[in-house]
Amino acid sequence: MTNKDAVLEAKGVFRSFQTGSVILDVLKGVDLEIYQGEIVALIGPSGSGKSTLLHILGALDRPDKGSINLDSVEVFSLNDKELAHLRNRTVGFVFQFHHLLPEFSALENVMLPKLIAGEGIKSIENKAMELLDEVGLKDRKDHKPGELSGGEQQRVAVARALINDPKIVIADEPSGNLDRNTAESLHNLILELNRSRNQTFVLATHNLELAQRANRIFRLKDGQVERAKF
Ligand SMILES: Nc1ncnc2c1ncn2[C@@H]1O[C@H](COP(=O)(O)OP(=O)(O)OP(=O)(O)O)[C@@H](O)[C@H]1O
Ligand SMILES: [Mg+2]
Repeated sequence: MTNKDAVLEAKGVFRSFQTGSVILDVLKGVDLEIYQGEIVALIGPSGSGKSTLLHILGALDRPDKGSINLDSVEVFSLNDKELAHLRNRTVGFVFQFHHLLPEFSALENVMLPKLIAGEGIKSIENKAMELLDEVGLKDRKDHKPGELSGGEQQRVAVARALINDPKIVIADEPSGNLDRNTAESLHNLILELNRSRNQTFVLATHNLELAQRANRIFRLKDGQVERAKF
């Protein structure tokens, strides 16, 4: 790691997609450092490559070229099993559509990533309850996702993202599917978690109110990121 404070460092990241005979160069040399305790917002028009970049930053996808250093580990030097382990331990994800498992309760959904990490079930349950309390949903613990509002589902997804004490939470349009007030309340929660836990976030968003509350804003343009100011 060139910079000791960076929890996540992307260097010279390239990613293209081939569909039939058409090659689409989406990321063309992205450099980005994210520091402990900050909120970084990623903006840019639809199709500019925000999700593509977030997937690579979170080690869900491999770049064609370039490196990702996550928590002092050179991510793409790992094999798939090591990579899955690192991801589970280090990264929390929140997506636009919550991706909660419909047949499990809110509490069970929050517990799941830690069950995979393999710990005693009672301590996992206690921790999941604390997190549900923290996101204001203690009394919804037995509700299945289909029995929760959109905003509540996203709060459960945030709690789930935090269960393994990740170095970084990667959120792809976390409020993209919420009405204005519910979105603002989710943004407040993200800021509160950033303050209270010094939790690092990188978020892709079309919501400029959320972007403006971040510590730094980057815009994806022509396959690269540039610092944006408002
Ligand atoms: N698996 C894939 N195969 C082919 N093309 C892809 C694939 N994934 C993404 N793309 C293309 O790459 C471009 C960037 O997509 P991406 O989802 O990263 O954009 P985005 O900035 O997240 O957009 P949005 O704001 O709409 O979510 C798009 O033009 C998309 O069609
Ligand atoms: Mg996207």
